[in-house]
Amino acid sequence: MPEARQILVTSALPYANGSIHLGHMLEYIQTDIWVRFQKQRGNQCVYVCADDAHGSAIMLRAEKEGITPEQLIAGVQAEHSADFADFLVDFDNFHSTHAEENRALATAIYLKLRDAGHIATRSVTQYFDPDKGMFLADRFIKGTCPKCGAEDQYGDNCEKCGATYEPTELKEPRSAISGATPVLKDSKHFFFKLPDFEAMLKQWTRSGTLQDAVANKIAEWLDGGLQEWDISRDAPYFGFEIPDEPGKYFYVWLDAPIGYMASFKNLCARRPELDFDAFWNKDSSAELYHFIGKDIVNFHTLFWPAMLEGAGYRKPTQVCVHGYLTVNGQKMSKSRGTFIKARTYLDHLNPEYLRYYYASKLSRGVDDLDLNLEDFVQKVNSDLVGKVVNIASRCAGFVHKLNGGLLPSREFTEQQLLKVSESHGWSSERILGTESFKRTINIEVGRAYESRDFGRAMREIMRWADVANNFIAVTEPWKLAKEGKKEEALAVCAEGINWFRLLVILLKPVLPKLAAAAEEFLNVAPLTWDDHAELLANHQLNPFTPLMTRIEPAKIDAMIEASKEDLAAQSTEAAAPQGNGELVKEPLAAEIDFDAFAAVDLRIALIEKAEFVEGADKLLRLTLDIGDAKRNVFSGIKSAYPDPSQLEGRLTLYVANLAPRKMKFGMSEGMVLAAGPGGEEIFLLSPDAGAKPGQRVH
Ligand code: MSP
Ligand code: ZN
Repeated sequence: MPEARQILVTSALPYANGSIHLGHMLEYIQTDIWVRFQKQRGNQCVYVCADDAHGSAIMLRAEKEGITPEQLIAGVQAEHSADFADFLVDFDNFHSTHAEENRALATAIYLKLRDAGHIATRSVTQYFDPDKGMFLADRFIKGTCPKCGAEDQYGDNCEKCGATYEPTELKEPRSAISGATPVLKDSKHFFFKLPDFEAMLKQWTRSGTLQDAVANKIAEWLDGGLQEWDISRDAPYFGFEIPDEPGKYFYVWLDAPIGYMASFKNLCARRPELDFDAFWNKDSSAELYHFIGKDIVNFHTLFWPAMLEGAGYRKPTQVCVHGYLTVNGQKMSKSRGTFIKARTYLDHLNPEYLRYYYASKLSRGVDDLDLNLEDFVQKVNSDLVGKVVNIASRCAGFVHKLNGGLLPSREFTEQQLLKVSESHGWSSERILGTESFKRTINIEVGRAYESRDFGRAMREIMRWADVANNFIAVTEPWKLAKEGKKEEALAVCAEGINWFRLLVILLKPVLPKLAAAAEEFLNVAPLTWDDHAELLANHQLNPFTPLMTRIEPAKIDAMIEASKEDLAAQSTEAAAPQGNGELVKEPLAAEIDFDAFAAVDLRIALIEKAEFVEGADKLLRLTLDIGDAKRNVFSGIKSAYPDPSQLEGRLTLYVANLAPRKMKFGMSEGMVLAAGPGGEEIFLLSPDAGAKPGQRVH
């Protein structure tokens, strides 16, 4: 047996300021399949990840919610961990970048880089928010586009005309945090001297570490000349302070990839057989793979290997880049309900459906991947339920009925199969049996998994599932049984069960839960890759229970509607100032002229009826009397009004000319107005006594 490989695998560290969605899941599922394949093969493979917890976005969001950043990231880490576990993503460790191991490693790496002369300092002039007392990243500055005059554009690019510019070119700039007019201010910044590593990077990026398309893209950057990289941010910032430089912090992207090492280090403390140095030393013989999306390639193929080299560590074996997820051929969209959170999916569908669908579409390329929901239903139902599970369900009953669930010896099976062959008038080769399948497993499917060509692996597996189903169809065990040829029928079904077992071995990295249920039915220990070499004989089966059910298309519709509902609930919350007890200043929206205000038709409405909506977690259905008509509105205020009847008979304010929105539960016509941070603290607005339904609000 070849010596087991030592392999460390990572997925990109998700930001700790948002929920995991199906786009993220593409990456974690891709990585998890590869890791499970390696483990099943008997390699020592370790899969680590962490939340990416630093940066000003997280600091500001915590402030808005009236909690500490530590509280915020702890909550998000629990949510992320549960999402991953329920999608069967089996990390050996899921850590956080805001951890002592990471502080120690980031500090040590920085000091090594500094002492080797790879850190430069110089003064940088940047916009500063005088109210908030902080420097403003480009996305926290808004103003008027210098090219086309569009208002309310971000500090680095205009969404209207596509222009890119420096924040200092914006007209009428203001801080998106406080609304204050920013001032220019100087500050000392620290730079990582990336150009020191140009020769190494030119060689490393062309040494089999990257897919060709990625290497070509990087070559453009390398040929264009490398720039020094700004790795410092001024206080206030949520991160690690730079050693010997009070008030200066590491930029989040400096310590984020070091988080891979830190998560592994944290794991080593629990798993004595793992030796940190053996994986990270310059002369390490272990392999290191980073799985990432195409948007973060420069961090992983330029800055990161240069940092590792400069600090005396080994570099990655491969950086494996995937494309972006689209849904029904388009970018994920909140209003179309295709921006689907991991949890929303899990509320409606089995995670293995998506794992299989992604596997069937993944290749080793960097192209975007489309989740076409119709194709998804069709493919899962036809491949997994119709082909794979079907083999077992067709054969199990006969083995139980004819032989008490005992699979006969191989000799017996083969002799009987020969008889079946002859009775059909076929030459013996006509029956393409499990023996020929066994031989191709290692070669075709194993190679496809290893090279991350999961689509090819799935096609190959389904081709064999077709052969197996065809075998059963032409040998017709039900007919043999009826004709009294019990032994032949039993042999065919025993062969079928062995086909099924081989398919399960191959699908196990993708469908671990189905595989576990199949192992239970087959009455075998957890299946390893090498188990394909032996077939089951003289072996007792357990009773068969259904292993997977078909996707009901109605579940897809419900998931899409629930994704729209998330949005409706969010927009009610977003419309209100945030804060918990203490009021945090909500930045003012961009100024509008009177005509823009007058275009909003605000009315007084009487809440005639307020009721729960079956199947909706956050919504109430309100029937509004607006004077001369009735309106039906869905509002994400259920958490604040657990007894909706208390709203009945109340007057409130209502946006009458908002375009109607189609939801699962019906049309929502307009919107009622509320304040408050959300959750239980949502306060519906009311006019003074005397106002009448239908009156216009001025
Ligand atoms: N925090 C950084 C990564 C730091 S790694 C040291 C980050 N986080 S992220 O949450 O925005 O993204 C995490 C991973 O998910 C990235 O690899 C990203 O490419 C991937 N994806 C995020 N949205 C995606 C799609 N819509 N489709 C496919 N992958 C996507 O980047
Ligand atoms: Zn513009």
